[in-house]
Amino acid sequence: MEVVILAAGQGKRMRSVLPKVLQPIAGKPMLTHVLAAARALEAKRICVVYGHGGEVVREQLDAPDLAWARQEPQLGTGHAVQQALPHLTDGALALVLYGDVPLIGVPTLTRLVAAAGERRLGLLTVELDNPAGYGRILRDEAGRVVRIVEEKDASAAERTVREVNTGILVAPVARLRDWLGRIGNDNAQGEYYLTDIIGMAVAEDIDIVTVQPDAVAETLGVNSKQQLAELERMHQAAIAGRLLDEGVTLIDPARIDVRGELVCGRDVEIDVNCVFEGRVELADGVTIGANCVIRDTRIGAGTRVAPFSHLDSTTMGADCVIGPYARTRPGTVLGADVHIGNFVEIKNSVVADHSKANHLAYVGDADVGSRVNIGAGTITCNYDGANKYRTVIEDDVFIGSDTQLVAPVRVGRGATLGAGTTLTKDAPAGQLTVSRARQFSVVGWKKPVKSR
Ligand code: UD1
Ligand code: CA
Repeated sequence: MEVVILAAGQGKRMRSVLPKVLQPIAGKPMLTHVLAAARALEAKRICVVYGHGGEVVREQLDAPDLAWARQEPQLGTGHAVQQALPHLTDGALALVLYGDVPLIGVPTLTRLVAAAGERRLGLLTVELDNPAGYGRILRDEAGRVVRIVEEKDASAAERTVREVNTGILVAPVARLRDWLGRIGNDNAQGEYYLTDIIGMAVAEDIDIVTVQPDAVAETLGVNSKQQLAELERMHQAAIAGRLLDEGVTLIDPARIDVRGELVCGRDVEIDVNCVFEGRVELADGVTIGANCVIRDTRIGAGTRVAPFSHLDSTTMGADCVIGPYARTRPGTVLGADVHIGNFVEIKNSVVADHSKANHLAYVGDADVGSRVNIGAGTITCNYDGANKYRTVIEDDVFIGSDTQLVAPVRVGRGATLGAGTTLTKDAPAGQLTVSRARQFSVVGWKKPVKSR
């Protein structure tokens, strides 16, 4: 099977410099969703029809398995499919999809293609309470499809038909080539209608089969930010529904956004307003507090992430306690039972089992051993304005509050750093190292008094 994706429409109603099919649903361009469906169907060839301003689309989404056909000017859907014909093979089936109908589902398309078979024309249709704007499916007394009439060409009686054309269809390439070579533009819009091929197929006694989608949302097109937002919510609701089916507890399924892939173990609980981006894995028993943003991260079993934490490209082990207000940046690897508390930032660092940084710290480019305690206000000074250096903190170290570790520097196993230390040389294992000035009190000191 070969797939044609129509994506030449300008999308003026978006009022955006970004071409319509690059507008995102769940963090990815609409066209990317449609391409994913085409690839899941194992299409032998995928041809995207793009238009004026569409070079950006081509630059951004080009891939070795894609062919691109430029449609300029845009003279209608039939004319659009015509531009793809040089890329299609006689003997194959062509499935027509739309770059601005992003939620189309693979099971629905599989049913459509199977129902049509090798010779018939398959149409995806839906019944709408309000069919305004759509092409209507006209059937004879026996219920066979005879024609599609566009709203603007339809009589009042035809407009009462509620079964509409979604635009998605499948037909043998050779037939499509023949039909499209013969369509005209003598209609209310002066366009070459793809839908005119239906009447031609009927005239040639080619059977037309219709299939309905699993969900109406799959067939909805996006022409405005309003519709983009509506589809985003529908898509998120579907994702939330799947998570619930898998046994994930969502405190409010209407308040979660998954922009990528979220893989959950058993008994995972997610509180409201969390955003998941890229690939996120939550092992058994993980709980995520409200208002967390988590991207490309793996979280071990039983770990608790408290509200307002921001975790990016991080791996953490089991039974950690994270946040509230924790931030882990790319390259963070936490062992098991690690505690990262409020206003603690970890970047490109490894923190081994049972270590804790509970309050207000920055740990960057560091290797932290096991059972280390990092006091409040501790900072690794990893950057001299030009280069970055590593800090090594060995097992069982205790770092007093408000300590600066000026990298490169090493704190030996079991060492203690006194509060307020600015460490510029390695601290020996097992000893107390303090760099602050000694405290003294002035005996007999008097407070100054105001002179008159
Ligand atoms: C088309 C169908 C109509 C159907 C409706 C579903 C035709 C003649 N009519 O309506 O029966 O109910 O879709 O939404 O096919 N496009 C191009 N090049 C063009 C024209 C359109 O690439 O020259 C693309 C658009 O970007 C869009 C899609 O084709 O993705 C449909 O175009 P649109 O104008 O929205 O559909 P209609 O022609 O109104
Ligand atoms: Ca149109």
